[in-house]
Amino acid sequence: NNVTFKIKGMQNKMKQEQQNTKKLEAIQEVQVLKDNKFVRKGNRSISLVEKHKLGSQIFKEELKLKVTINTLIEETNGLPTMKYKVIQRLGDGAYGTVYLAENLMTKAKVAMKKINKVKENEIDDMEIKNEINILKKLDHPNIVKILEFYSTEPAYYIITSYCPCGELYNQIKYQYNENQLAVLFYQVFSGLYYLHSKNIVHRDLKLENILITEIEKEKKTGKSLFWIKIIDFGTAKIFEKNKSEKAVVGSSYYIAPEVLQKKYNEKCDTWSAGVILYMLICGRAPFDGADDDEIIANIKKGTYNHFHKKLVASSPEVQDLVTKLLEVNVNKRLSAAEALRHPWFTKFNGKSLYMNLDKEKVKMYLDRLVSFEINSKFQQMVLAFIVHNVPDTDETKDILKIFRLFDSND
Ligand code: ADE
Repeated sequence: NNVTFKIKGMQNKMKQEQQNTKKLEAIQEVQVLKDNKFVRKGNRSISLVEKHKLGSQIFKEELKLKVTINTLIEETNGLPTMKYKVIQRLGDGAYGTVYLAENLMTKAKVAMKKINKVKENEIDDMEIKNEINILKKLDHPNIVKILEFYSTEPAYYIITSYCPCGELYNQIKYQYNENQLAVLFYQVFSGLYYLHSKNIVHRDLKLENILITEIEKEKKTGKSLFWIKIIDFGTAKIFEKNKSEKAVVGSSYYIAPEVLQKKYNEKCDTWSAGVILYMLICGRAPFDGADDDEIIANIKKGTYNHFHKKLVASSPEVQDLVTKLLEVNVNKRLSAAEALRHPWFTKFNGKSLYMNLDKEKVKMYLDRLVSFEINSKFQQMVLAFIVHNVPDTDETKDILKIFRLFDSND
C-alpha cells in the first residue's frame, strides 16, 4: 500500500533505462477540490517490474501503461443496439441527434448521441471525433460523462450519462432566489474552471446545454436546488494558451462580442455564463432583438439594461457579478476561477451547498459501474492492478471499496 511515486523521478528513471528495459507503470490522474478550486494533485503511479533471467544476464522488463480515468473507454465497432434499447428522441445537439436509451441488461438509462459520418477523409473524421476526444479527457461532476462510444460505417454513437430532469431552458419561466442561483452558478463556474484548466473552451454555453440531473428540496427553505451538468461538446475546442481563436461558433443570444470580432479565448464562456445569469434573474436576454441580426448588432454595441427592475431588486453582489461577466473588455472580464471567488457565492452559500456533493460523487461512481463492462484481458489486468495497489485516500477509497467488492465476488 505504500507504493506512491513522484512522477518526475519516475520519468527520469524511465529515461535512463529506456534502451534496455520496459516498465509497467500505472498512472492515475486525480482531481481534487480544494480551497474553492479543482487542483490537480498530480498523478499517482505504480510500476511493475518483471525480471527475466536469460543466461547469466538479468533483464528487467518494464511496460509503461498510463491509466487515466477514461483509459477504459475504448471504441467499439458495431451497433450499440446490441446493448441498448432506444426509447425516445431527446433532441438535437450542435452535431447529431440525441436519444434516450436503456441498457438491456442493467436497465440503466443513458443518452445516446448519433453523429453521422458524412465525409470520407481523415481530417473530416477528426472533426467529427472532436467531441469524443474532448469528452474522453473530462471527468467532473458538472460535466456530462462519456461512458462508451461506438463506430459503425455510417455513424458514431456517443453514450453518456443521462440527465433526467431536462434543460435549464425549461426553468427560465420560474423566479429563483439568489441562494438557488448561487448553487447553480457555482456548479457552472466549477465546470468551466475545470474545462479551461484543461485548455478546453466550450463555445456554446447556453440554457439548452445545461441539463438538470437532480432537483433537491433544501431542508430549511423548501426551495429546489438544481444539480447540473454541462453538455454538448460538439463545438468545443482545445485551445493553445495565449493564442486566440477565430471561428465564429455559438448561439446568438449568448455569443461574446469578441467572438464576432473573430479574436477570442476561453473567456467567451464566462460571457455566456453572464448572459445565462442575467436571463435567470430578469426572465429575458440582456441582448435581444427581433432576429439574429438585431441581437448580434446589440451584442456588438455591448450595452444592455443594467437597470432591469428584477436586477436592481437583487443583491449588490449579483449585480456586480453580472457587470463583471458582461464586460466587453476581455482582459477585465472575470475568468471562471475569479468568478468562483466572487463574494456573491459566499453571501448566498453557493459554495457551501455545492460542497454537499458527496452524495453525487458516490452516485457517479455507481452510474459508471453499471455501465462498465470489463471485457478485455487488458482491462481486467489494469483494474486488478489498481484495486490492489492504489493507496486508499479520501479521493479513492469509495471507488476502491466498490471495485474490491466486485473483485472478491469474481
Ligand atoms: N439531451 C442531450 N444530452 C442529454 C443527456 N445527457 N441527458 C438528457 N438529455 C439530453
